Amino acid sequence: MLSYRHSFHAGNHADVLKHIVLLGVLKKLCAKDKAFSYIDSHSGAGMYDLLSSNALMNAEYESGISRLWKHDFKNALLQDYLACVRSFNEDGELRFYPGSPAFALWSARTQDRLQLLDLQPEELGVLQYYLGRDERVSIHQRDAFEGLLALTPPEPRRGLALIDPSFEQKEDYQRVVNVAKKVMRRWPVGIMAIWYPILASDRDRSPWLKAALQREKLSSVMSIELRVAEQAQEYGMHGSGMLLINTPWQFSALMQDVFEEVVPLLGDNASFLIETLTEAE
Ligand SMILES: C[S@@+](CC[C@H](N)C(=O)[O-])C[C@H]1O[C@@H](n2cnc3c(N)ncnc32)[C@H](O)[C@@H]1O
Repeated sequence: MLSYRHSFHAGNHADVLKHIVLLGVLKKLCAKDKAFSYIDSHSGAGMYDLLSSNALMNAEYESGISRLWKHDFKNALLQDYLACVRSFNEDGELRFYPGSPAFALWSARTQDRLQLLDLQPEELGVLQYYLGRDERVSIHQRDAFEGLLALTPPEPRRGLALIDPSFEQKEDYQRVVNVAKKVMRRWPVGIMAIWYPILASDRDRSPWLKAALQREKLSSVMSIELRVAEQAQEYGMHGSGMLLINTPWQFSALMQDVFEEVVPLLGDNASFLIETLTEAE
């Protein structure tokens, strides 16, 4: 059942979108000294070697981080994004690409706490190796949807949950909506970020996902989508999106500035779209 390996996709355009948005929310949380919780329901391995045979198979990082790696960005969030990636590649050659838990730990202060979940033993082994010794980090071999709900509301209460399924099973779309609804009821102050793929039109479930979350009348829901030329043939992935619930203040303007700088680097067919799906309550 669990055949997905993120190592085939690490650093691609979808990771670029996801991790820039993630870092943007984490920066907003760091604007106050008060501690935050970070829950990553689908953590993956936390660190990816771009010279591994999996990563080299389709070299997807060439559609993403490779195009940004040497760029001198004006925007402070983009400077932070590259500073984080560069901190794992101190000799100046791009080899390691951090996963979402590594971006979160890079952002965290002493008072912050990370709860990381995955089911796959191999991914958990790498995650434990790179992040497990840090006392702010708890790693759980646990189902994402069951575990996220059980760990909610977290202590400290301020914070962010990232839901990043592979969507190999189409039931994952409904599972995401169900868990988002329940988690937000238990944790009304929490911020939630949900990654989703944008596929070829006959298989694309992203409009359904956005409409379903809009119907739940959750507070301040925003989507940020990044489209590129089709390149992962087996999935036909044209781009991807991040949905935010309880979107931080002035986040839309920040994302506008960020993706205006990023998109021209991702090729002639790249574009982005920011939509407000519900207003703040
Ligand atoms: C897209 S990858 C995660 C990538 C990671 N969030 C990042 O950005 O670096 C999805 C992960 O979810 C895990 N996974 C799939 N189904 C799961 C489930 N039901 N519960 C927990 N983890 C699951 C997979 O093993 C895989 O590592």
